[in-house]
Amino acid sequence: MNDGPLAEHVLLGGTDIRISPLGIGTWAWGDRFYWGYGREYGEDDVQAAFGLALDRNVNFFDTAEVYGFGRSERLLGQALRASGKPAVVATKFMPLPWRLRRASLHRALRGSLRRLGVQQVDLYQIHWPFPPVPIERWMQALADAVEEGLVRAVGVSNYNVDQLRRAHEALAKRGVPLASNQVEYSLLQRGPERSGLLAACRDLGVTLIAYSPLGQGLLTGKYTAGHPPPGARRRRARRLGRIEPLIGLLRQIGEAHGGKTPAQVALNWTICKGTVPIPGAKNARQAEDNAGALGWRLAGDEVAALDAASEAL
Ligand SMILES: NC(=O)c1ccc[n+]([C@@H]2O[C@H](COP(=O)([O-])OP(=O)(O)OC[C@H]3O[C@@H](n4cnc5c(N)ncnc54)[C@H](OP(=O)(O)O)[C@@H]3O)[C@@H](O)[C@H]2O)c1
Repeated sequence: MNDGPLAEHVLLGGTDIRISPLGIGTWAWGDRFYWGYGREYGEDDVQAAFGLALDRNVNFFDTAEVYGFGRSERLLGQALRASGKPAVVATKFMPLPWRLRRASLHRALRGSLRRLGVQQVDLYQIHWPFPPVPIERWMQALADAVEEGLVRAVGVSNYNVDQLRRAHEALAKRGVPLASNQVEYSLLQRGPERSGLLAACRDLGVTLIAYSPLGQGLLTGKYTAGHPPPGARRRRARRLGRIEPLIGLLRQIGEAHGGKTPAQVALNWTICKGTVPIPGAKNARQAEDNAGALGWRLAGDEVAALDAASEAL
């Protein structure tokens, strides 16, 4: 369990923003289609997840304007107001094909600020490196937002190594550090290691924020080939038979650490790799379990064993 007030907090990229080494992802907050919001869980559950996270010193929350068509930002804003406690809020701009000018980022940011009910976002990220707008134009728009005080720090998401370097360089010309690149990274998605993206982030002082760090629930060990996750996640679940040895190893390592869960071990592995995971939590129980990935560390040989088990998949 997290062992001390803010003791473990880390800096977000080259900024002075202190975040917990693990955050909470809020895509599922308000999203009916993919995650089933309003069926097995609802507003009370996600508000409780927020409160529990803060109680465990987890202060970093990731949302996006597109999650639940704005509902995730609204729910996070409500939780922030109700708690009255400080938290670090990250949201994202989606470069939709009809958004072509710097002003469209500005307009979208105003919408996010309104839904969140804040004057300033701590981290504003470009959600995807979609064409046709060149990376440099969005970086200019982000730098403008920093200068106007609407944003404390800026980041990107789903950028490859070349795109990351272009973004970093364009911002550097404006004297703004690129704080983060948010990409999928887990024991089931090692792409950022193979492509050199993780190393490039480290070289540039950019925090790699690991999304879907639990493989959208598959690494918790609660799903099996005979009991797959519901709905749209079934596509991912084709791997469930093959990942059984990896889940077994997560359990075995967790037991050696006094009863850590597979989710806690999987999240700790991403932290040991130098990334900041943002597992989604639909309720307080999941937020509590995920916060239990903090306050302890896997040994080097355990990380190596997990590396080998995930490479064998
Ligand atoms: N930038 C991007 O393009 C992008 C893309 C995807 C995600 N993200 C961000 O990353 C965050 C996390 O990714 P994700 O939500 O896709 O996947 P994830 O964190 O790997 O999995 C989250 C899901 O796993 C289950 N779960 C979480 N903790 C659990 C626990 N302790 N025990 C049992 N089940 C647990 C829950 O679903 P069930 O209970 O239904 O199984 C939860 O919704 C998102 O919320 C979002 O903020 C960003």
